[in-house]
Amino acid sequence: MSSLVQSHKRSLGSLPPVGPIAYGLWRFTDDDIEVGQGLLETALESGMNLIDTADVYGFDWGGTGFGQVEEILGQVLAATPGLRDRIVLATKGGIAPPTPYDSSPKYLRSACEASLRRLQTDVIDLYQIHRPDMYTHPADVAITLHALRVEGKIREVGVSNHTPAQVAALQAHLEFPIITNQPEFSAVELTPMRDGTLDQCMAERVTPLAWSPLGGGRLATGEGIAPDLLALLDSLAVREGVDRSQIALAFVLAHPSAPVAIIGSQNPDRIRSSAAALGVTLDRADVYAIVQASEGVPLP
Ligand SMILES: NC(=O)c1ccc[n+]([C@@H]2O[C@H](COP(=O)([O-])OP(=O)(O)OC[C@H]3O[C@@H](n4cnc5c(N)ncnc54)[C@H](OP(=O)(O)O)[C@@H]3O)[C@@H](O)[C@H]2O)c1
Repeated sequence: MSSLVQSHKRSLGSLPPVGPIAYGLWRFTDDDIEVGQGLLETALESGMNLIDTADVYGFDWGGTGFGQVEEILGQVLAATPGLRDRIVLATKGGIAPPTPYDSSPKYLRSACEASLRRLQTDVIDLYQIHRPDMYTHPADVAITLHALRVEGKIREVGVSNHTPAQVAALQAHLEFPIITNQPEFSAVELTPMRDGTLDQCMAERVTPLAWSPLGGGRLATGEGIAPDLLALLDSLAVREGVDRSQIALAFVLAHPSAPVAIIGSQNPDRIRSSAAALGVTLDRADVYAIVQASEGVPLP
């Protein structure tokens, strides 16, 4: 049986190729540097060289405040010679609590420069607009991103939680391509398949970075998940000799837009075992069965 699961490395513009599973740091709020080193080494050993963070991480999920996760990551990078060069470093700016969003030129520049200081690095590989600021003209966002790139502070640009129209509006003012969009996408969040986000990614050669591919853990624990979907994922897990989480990750990787799934576990064993998703075989009938079980209605 040929598999739809795409296990190849993804190409992100001028950046080094990245593994199909990435490691996200939203929950990376333990400030013990050795713990952080261990988690990042485990992710890298498991083929997850894209490391996704944001300036706002630390503001919630047990953190101490805005900027905390970037600070911890900066300390881990400073304490681990060579680590910075082994990762593709992605961060985000533009969420400014309690405003809540600000991508105005002055703010976005200061946010990016603050991220560089906290991360203790000279350059951010992938700088993403975390959420669209509906009160900044995309031409102004583009001018700021262009200047930051010319100054060598960022290498490539992505967006997150942007509608296809918002991506197009920003792209219309940028002289270089937006290389990623980061939507929530999983077996319990199929909106990007339906609202044009993944279609635009395929049309414009934008790589989707799927956040919360396990539904924030619910697909692993089963909490709040439709019984039919759980039963299906469990039966596929038995057939494939993996666990339910790996089937859920494989489902994300099976979309033809070749998403990168950003996992967020703080447990080294779970990070390691996620890589088994790459060996899962899912065919067209399997993925359509997951879609129908998730939506609770048969496709016409
Ligand atoms: N752009 C955005 O707006 C946005 C929003 C949210 C997230 N993100 C990105 O996406 C990344 C991943 O998000 P996420 O952390 O929600 O992803 P996720 O991988 O869907 O969920 C991770 C959570 O699932 C739990 N989990 C995993 N396997 C489990 C198991 N077998 N049993 C019980 N619990 C299990 C983890 O707990 P343990 O730690 O105990 O394993 C962790 O709390 C973030 O770090 C961030 O980079 C972006």
